Amino acid sequence: MKSNKQKRRSFLKKAGSAVFAASALPHLASGTENSLKIPLEVPNRERYSANDTIRLAVIGTGIMGMKNCDTALKIPGVELVAACDLYPDRLLRMQELYGKDLATTAKHEEILDRKDVDAVIVATTDHWHDKISIEALQKGKAVYCEKPMVHKIEEGQAVIDAQRKSGKVFQVGSQRVSSIMYKKAAELYKSGAIGQLILAETWNDRQSALGAWQYSMPPNVSEKDIDWKRYLGDAPEVPFDPKRFFRWRNYQDYGTGVAGDLFVHLFSGLHVVLDSEGPERVFATGGLRYWEDGRDVPDVIIGCYDYPETAKHPAFNVQMRVNFVDGSGGGSMLRLVGSEGVMTLGWSGITIEKSKISEAPGYGGWDTFNTYSESTRKEYEKWYAATYPEGDPMVQPPQKLEYTMPKGYSDHLAHHQAFFDGIRHNKSIVEDAVFGLRAAAPALAANISLFEKRIVKWDPNKMAMV
Ligand SMILES: NC(=O)c1ccc[n+]([C@@H]2O[C@H](COP(=O)([O-])OP(=O)(O)OC[C@H]3O[C@@H](n4cnc5c(N)ncnc54)[C@H](O)[C@@H]3O)[C@@H](O)[C@H]2O)c1
Repeated sequence: MKSNKQKRRSFLKKAGSAVFAASALPHLASGTENSLKIPLEVPNRERYSANDTIRLAVIGTGIMGMKNCDTALKIPGVELVAACDLYPDRLLRMQELYGKDLATTAKHEEILDRKDVDAVIVATTDHWHDKISIEALQKGKAVYCEKPMVHKIEEGQAVIDAQRKSGKVFQVGSQRVSSIMYKKAAELYKSGAIGQLILAETWNDRQSALGAWQYSMPPNVSEKDIDWKRYLGDAPEVPFDPKRFFRWRNYQDYGTGVAGDLFVHLFSGLHVVLDSEGPERVFATGGLRYWEDGRDVPDVIIGCYDYPETAKHPAFNVQMRVNFVDGSGGGSMLRLVGSEGVMTLGWSGITIEKSKISEAPGYGGWDTFNTYSESTRKEYEKWYAATYPEGDPMVQPPQKLEYTMPKGYSDHLAHHQAFFDGIRHNKSIVEDAVFGLRAAAPALAANISLFEKRIVKWDPNKMAMV
């Protein structure tokens, strides 16, 4: 049987470690001997001919439905033909933005029955994602479904089946999956830039009413403005309540809480960097600590995850957090801690700080060394120098590498490009239904763990609860 040390060595050997070799760095790099800055480059896009037009419709025209349309229409050859929403005022807004000829309806079935629609964006509340996506795939449409792919873990397999059966393109909307930053991080991780992965820390914190989902609500809105029964769908029947419509994220019946909404982005990023299928065990804690406005979801959640060893990564642990009361103003970060350094992914780019764990212990300071007599200390110093003849490996020059994001870069645009490339050229989609479930399930499992106060076991390969 291999010892831990042998296992570690063979893993590192497989990974290689050439990231800091001068010859491996692009000519645009700048900096000092121990600290380098390298701008990330955006790949060139291909051109399309006019008969490549893809006709798009959007279902759910709130914040993200509108953002998705705006981004999709930046791609040549994409045309918006119809929009669907349950709040007529938002459809009016769509016509203000895209012209009076834009077809509108409150019934998604009418969109899916249209022969002139090739692809749909599903940007409704989470509790409608699976049903509308499945129906759309069955009607032969390509689907861009917002994250989280599903409202409940058990809805995931049906979406995967529908995608497979239809043979149509299906992409989930965690845009960081298509970011040049995450692609670079994956390349760096694979090349052994941080050695053996030990743990990952990732968070998404905020401190504002909007950040905590207290969105603006139109005054005087009433039940006659919205098809309430349709909105509820498979959710429990409750009387009309505008907060449950306009601030739906705060209610488990329609949303997935902070874990479903924000952990899922963190998982998507982590999984694309590590090419991972996900964790096998989760424990989450947290609660509603500040935003007590009637919501039934927490505003602080901390999840601990165990990832099993696979061919792509060793066993490691993840600590994940979202909180809506962060005094430092919030932010999102992913830190991968390895045996040879730490890789950090923030909004502005990637930083790698090399710091190899030394096999030599060093001596002095908070050590038993100072408790020995002078002659023993001298003898020990002699032994240490003979054992480590090339100098104390504890003393290493710091090495820092930064990959900076280009100004104005949009991972959202890159993600939409991946979707439309998939449709046009039958290219495979990274964030397909399988990836979507593998990111959504551990996020949703955090809710189960928190609400039921238990450890949840998940089989990431079979995509099934254990
Ligand atoms: N990728 C991202 O970064 C990102 C960011 C924000 C939101 N999202 C996701 O986008 C989705 C929408 O979020 P939002 O912030 O736009 O919410 P929103 O409340 O602004 O919009 C949701 C819209 O869906 C409509 N809707 C609900 N059920 C419908 C149905 N059956 N038929 C037609 N329309 C229906 C509502 O009328 C509403 O206008 C969510 O799943 C959310 O998680 C993703």
